[in-house]
Amino acid sequence: MVPELVGKLTALGYEVVVETGAGAGALHSDEDYVAAGATVSEQALDDAAVIVSVQPLEVPAVRRLRAGTATVSFLPTGQSLDLVADLRDCGITAFAMELVPRISRAQSMDALSSQSLVSGYRCAIVAAGLLRRFFPLNMTAAGTVPPAEVVVLGAGVAGLQAIATSKRLGAVVKAYDVRAAAAEEIRSMGAQAIELDLETLEGAGGYAREMTADRAQRQRELLAPYIASADALITTAAVPGRQAPMLVTREMVEQMSPGSVVVDLAAESGGNVEGSRPGEVVRVGNAQVWGGANVPSQMPGPASRLYAQNIVNLVTLMTHEGAFAPDFEDEIVTGSCVTHDGRVLHGPTLALLGGTP
Ligand code: NAI
Repeated sequence: MVPELVGKLTALGYEVVVETGAGAGALHSDEDYVAAGATVSEQALDDAAVIVSVQPLEVPAVRRLRAGTATVSFLPTGQSLDLVADLRDCGITAFAMELVPRISRAQSMDALSSQSLVSGYRCAIVAAGLLRRFFPLNMTAAGTVPPAEVVVLGAGVAGLQAIATSKRLGAVVKAYDVRAAAAEEIRSMGAQAIELDLETLEGAGGYAREMTADRAQRQRELLAPYIASADALITTAAVPGRQAPMLVTREMVEQMSPGSVVVDLAAESGGNVEGSRPGEVVRVGNAQVWGGANVPSQMPGPASRLYAQNIVNLVTLMTHEGAFAPDFEDEIVTGSCVTHDGRVLHGPTLALLGGTP
């Protein structure tokens, strides 16, 4: 939560208690929250009806909660099965921000989009910062300096923002995505859409499908010349529920020129680029390869502001007459709810837990 949005929750009828120091990472002091109408406490969780956070609570904290308490946070269920089992057994109603359905009505609650916007911007700025040359064309009395060439792979929310930011800085940008609709979106940002002689891969809900090994190999071969000539490569490709696709091998990076830069936003989820490491800059051939690690937290002010607004919008949807009362007929509620009333409601997580509700 950010201080400026505390008033939205109090207006709904909530008393807001903020854990001591909770805003420090985003430069919000405890006094800011008090001035906004919240109480600050070391024991913020004790009597809460609803707990909102970025990361999910840890198991010991969950076990101290009363049955019926609601939690709203990111909750990567596939990687947190023990925690989900605890949330279920403790009777917690847990909502996962990454499961908010991507329908028009839920756009204002879509934290994946808001955080991808931050990440995509950050990737372009990191690439521009690491690259020791201009992004824009410069025509000067001392001669013309050509613009940098940036290649972006994956043109979802983060990729499009990386394209837009690189364009604003003056680079020549080319981009590729497996979804057919992405080409038009890439062009609308003023970039060149790389068209490969390959089938497109649309999956459910506007997302991509996973590639077969053959297609992945062919895609790498066709992309290799674009990568070899790029000054900066930014990769943001993801497939929901899967490891990030390996788009760029070490050999492909080794074809890049001296001084080139690679920014792999997917480093934490397996990596789009072979050899990238989350939170590190490593050398591959001539290139510096930057691996993203919790990238939104590198711009904590805007990331927190946008996330807090997503949270407020979701909590508002679930509040009726001053009380937290989610309507389990609403697809946003059912879609994002992982556990409720001692049961696991999210089908894929239930399957991973062996089908025991
Ligand atoms: P994401 O983070 O899951 O993936 C990023 C991008 O990687 C996607 O565009 C995907 O097509 C691409 N990708 C996957 N495999 C690839 C490969 N092998 N090579 C190149 N690119 C690859 O996706 P994100 O950013 O969360 O959103 C994807 C789409 O979802 C959007 O473009 C939009 O159509 C839809 N969406 C809908 C929203 C809504 O209706 N509220 C909100 C946000 C997104």
